[in-house]
Amino acid sequence: MPQLSLSWLGLGPVAASLWLFLLLVGVSWLLARILVWTYTFYDIVRCLRCFPQPPKRNWFLGHLGLFPPTEEGLRDVTQLVANYPQGFVTWMGPVMPLVTLCHPDMVRTIVSASAAIAPKDVVFYRFLKPWLGDGLLLSGGDKWSRHRRMLTPAFHFNILKSYVRIFNDSVNIMHAKWKRLASEGSAHLDMFEHISLMTLDSLQKCVFSFDSNCQEKPSEYISAVLELSALVTKRNQQITLHMDSLYHLIPDGWRFHRACRLVHDFTDSVIQERRRTLPDQGLDDLLKAKAKVKTLDFIDVLLLAKDEDGKELSDEDIRAEADTFMFAGHDTTASGLAWVLYNLARHPEHQERCRQEVRELLRDREPKEIEWDDLAQLPFLTMCIKESLRLHPPVTVISRRCTQDIVLPDGRIIPKGVICLISIFGTHHSPSVWPDPEVYDPFRFDPENTKETSPLAFIPFSAGPRNCIGQTFAMTEMKVVLALTLLRFRVLPAGEEPRRKPELILRAEGGLWLRVEPLSAGPHDPRPPDPGSTPTPHLTVQIPRNKSVLSPLPQPIGSQQGAVVAAEDGEGPWWVEAGPVSLSPTPCLPLPLTTGPHAARGFF
Ligand code: HEM
Repeated sequence: MPQLSLSWLGLGPVAASLWLFLLLVGVSWLLARILVWTYTFYDIVRCLRCFPQPPKRNWFLGHLGLFPPTEEGLRDVTQLVANYPQGFVTWMGPVMPLVTLCHPDMVRTIVSASAAIAPKDVVFYRFLKPWLGDGLLLSGGDKWSRHRRMLTPAFHFNILKSYVRIFNDSVNIMHAKWKRLASEGSAHLDMFEHISLMTLDSLQKCVFSFDSNCQEKPSEYISAVLELSALVTKRNQQITLHMDSLYHLIPDGWRFHRACRLVHDFTDSVIQERRRTLPDQGLDDLLKAKAKVKTLDFIDVLLLAKDEDGKELSDEDIRAEADTFMFAGHDTTASGLAWVLYNLARHPEHQERCRQEVRELLRDREPKEIEWDDLAQLPFLTMCIKESLRLHPPVTVISRRCTQDIVLPDGRIIPKGVICLISIFGTHHSPSVWPDPEVYDPFRFDPENTKETSPLAFIPFSAGPRNCIGQTFAMTEMKVVLALTLLRFRVLPAGEEPRRKPELILRAEGGLWLRVEPLSAGPHDPRPPDPGSTPTPHLTVQIPRNKSVLSPLPQPIGSQQGAVVAAEDGEGPWWVEAGPVSLSPTPCLPLPLTTGPHAARGFF
């Protein structure tokens, strides 16, 4: 047998045997790793056999690409959830399983597990890291739990109360714009575009006390936040953009860096300015004085925050948290609001009932503003928002990585190392959790009807230790914006049905377009539809005052969808105004109609 010689490397026999030894150790280590990995993988596959699996594309690709982030993909998920009500396994390629859970009992086990046992899986969010740093959304371990404790007071209702004024102001600016656009005849609006700008405006005021007037004129900072969100979404979707070393060499990467720098510089300068203007009496006294006049913004609260040992947050920590609030708070709330307006446009009877509730609340008040104490006085409007968050949850899925075997209530085990997806969309659309899940029915959230419902059947803000810290902020803003919008505008569908698009948040392809019509300030809007401004004619039906008529509504024109809306208030009759109908292209010919017990008058 030929001798193994390493003399060509200039090594003597001793060195050669040393190299040989190292080589042997290396190969054995590698073999051992492969063995351990194979055994672990086999064990994972064995455990996961207990979970149903939809048909794969093939053994290599698994389910890759089967559920794209499109309308069709969401419909497939809805079907999967109907077929496998507890959850199912999918494979991203030959060796990466994902366990998707979509039933409250299963979801509970994961979301209530400690953050150490089921930490957040950052695969979904990793491209946000250079922008958001170690803020709450992305951090983990001790840092996260320390910061979570320190930041919780920032969302105390005493702090949130002072933001209600800001929400009123920001929505007033948006409405002034809508009125201008409507008077110019272009009241078809992409809700995402308008509302995102408004939620960013509010957040910039709440986080930094900074008014960039971004709803009226372009703002560098706000444009940078919007650009960063768009670039992260694009990078998530295109596998060719995933590698950091390549991304930084292409124009998208340069733009990302430029926008990141701009956003960080802005946040840093606010923090520095706040520290610089500290008067001699010190930070605490200044902030307490500010708190008294109700101008405490998030930066102030973060500067004040101390942990159990009296340790403050560093400037870098404060920047990460402030940037995180800007990101996590704007698109999510905008999505929630855009979809609730869409749902109310499709259900004019619910829209009108909300409007009556708001009018009743603000009847004797001038100017018409929503105050903190009003928020509990809008029960139906709150039900409408919740039902919309169920049907169109802004965050459709969240992920966790199991750091140890997790036993589900039925005894099945999710093995250590596996990534678990909590399908918020799936849970909300599961027929075994919500009967007729595709129907928009706010009465599901009538307190009378929720007694039997699991708290984990409705999880738009997630649940457990890593739930959304900003949920009360978001609900407050959504109530203020929706109440004032319905008071001032009628919202109508604008043509084709939108196609849902689940990106980082749930959007609509090409925007979510709705038609808005300004209403007069009075208790009801007596104007007939303007034939010139609308290609889709309206129907008006008069119904004697009778509250039970509002739901369900009569269907005076048979199969015409979304035709009827309740209207007039006061002591007079209820009016029911139709959404767009397409009986005839010729608008506004009064036509008597009879619908069961109700006399009706229509314009076709
Ligand atoms: C309708 C509006 C909102 C929805 C639907 C929503 C939803 C969520 C969800 C599902 C999570 C969990 C994410 C995960 O586990 O990966 C989350 C976390 C978070 N949200 Fe929200 N959110 C909304 C508004 C806000 C607002 C207004 C803020 C701040 C001003 C905010 C700040 C955060 C933060 C900081 C986290 C991370 C919490 C942690 O891990 O400790 N969110 N949100």
